[in-house]
Amino acid sequence: MSKREHPSFSSRIGFILVTAGAAVGLGNVWSFTYVAGKNGGGGFVLIYLLTLAFIATPVFMAEMLLGRLGKASTPTSLKKLQTSAGSKLPWALPAWIGLVATILVLSFYAVISGQVMAYGWEALQGGFAGWEKDQIIALDKAFKADPSVPIFWSILFLVATAAIVSLDIRKGLERASRLMMPVLFVMLIGLVIFAVLRADFGAAFNFLFGFNEMQLSPKILMEAVGQAFFTLSVGVGGIMLYGSYMGDDVNLPKASLWIVLMDLSVALLAGLAIFPILFSANIDPAAGPGLVFITLPLAFSGIPGGAILAFVFFLLLTFAAITSAISLLSPPTARLEEAGWSRAKSAWVMGLGAFILSLATTLSFSSWADFYPLAFLGFEGMTPFDLIREGVNNVVLPLGGLAFALMVGWGLKREDVRAALPMENGALFSIWYGALKYLVPIAIIALFLTAIFGGGH
Ligand code: PFF
Repeated sequence: MSKREHPSFSSRIGFILVTAGAAVGLGNVWSFTYVAGKNGGGGFVLIYLLTLAFIATPVFMAEMLLGRLGKASTPTSLKKLQTSAGSKLPWALPAWIGLVATILVLSFYAVISGQVMAYGWEALQGGFAGWEKDQIIALDKAFKADPSVPIFWSILFLVATAAIVSLDIRKGLERASRLMMPVLFVMLIGLVIFAVLRADFGAAFNFLFGFNEMQLSPKILMEAVGQAFFTLSVGVGGIMLYGSYMGDDVNLPKASLWIVLMDLSVALLAGLAIFPILFSANIDPAAGPGLVFITLPLAFSGIPGGAILAFVFFLLLTFAAITSAISLLSPPTARLEEAGWSRAKSAWVMGLGAFILSLATTLSFSSWADFYPLAFLGFEGMTPFDLIREGVNNVVLPLGGLAFALMVGWGLKREDVRAALPMENGALFSIWYGALKYLVPIAIIALFLTAIFGGGH
């Protein structure tokens, strides 16, 4: 291990913006809208909100706390804490699984982000304005049919990500997020104002918050919980690593609250911008992962100034995706640096790994579209992309979160946890601590039992 001092961000606001940038990403816009749309809106959104508030947020704080206490790469942090807790359990294991998971997430993230960039490029050249439905579907098909096109854009995205990660953290991560986060907020608010003025805002509002027609199955439950973990980046160590860069002057609970609120507001703003446009253009909200790529350009095509709006939208999504991808590439990079590699070499090698894995997603949209490798285990109709996305989001993330909750709630000494939190209010601490000790483990275990015995996967 290198003897260099562990780096940290330069300011409190820097820390909050960088971590919010990590949380806010494709999950808030691409997956929140498509998964909410596919699962009927209201009921899904309600479970998502409840999980976000009572499960994912306490775990988010726990994961940051583990990083603050460990101050090293994720496996090393947890190994240190295991030793100081005198535990015989392999604490580093969830961190190692997390490192694999970050690269898997990055692999499909790069492909979707690549398509986002390609569509931004198309819009910049005046694309989508006045286009017919068939033309838009043909573009999506053409994009996916010839793998060399998604591969080109995925490489571009991964190169941008690896380049930022290979720089020093303060110069790279902080500068990028400081610039991108505020721009993203302003752009989204602009889109929502447009939706209020020009599209079917009422229908969208009812769809997202009409909790009266709840449909809930074990599968929807898992998707909602998986989405809550995914959107906060909880469960794979990305937040733990950022927590390890957090200055000691940062109030962890307050910072967490800000980050969760920003993340939640971006998802809700995205929903309130996208669904009104969909409803006024009479498009089915259950269009699936292609929602952003087929229905949105279609919606924009019929709106005056649609090309500009589409460009703004895809640019915004690219910004959000890059800041999240940075947080996916950072944990494995930090671990390799500890092994003596340079930061640049670590980032480029891991980026290359993500690229190789990304081919599974790229091909899932073309020649592997009917390839269901785990059909014999009952995972019918799931392409390699479906297996990676659902496996990581809905299984690895909640289980990683469970492990982190157990470490803080049961592994570490209560006094040590209390001492690491500058939280003024003792009652709030007790509620959070109680949630980690009982509510989170019981809820996650109950979720998995429901999924296994309720027939959802
Ligand atoms: N939270 C990111 C999003 O919503 O797009 C995705 C993500 C980033 C998940 C980093 C996990 C992670 F470690």
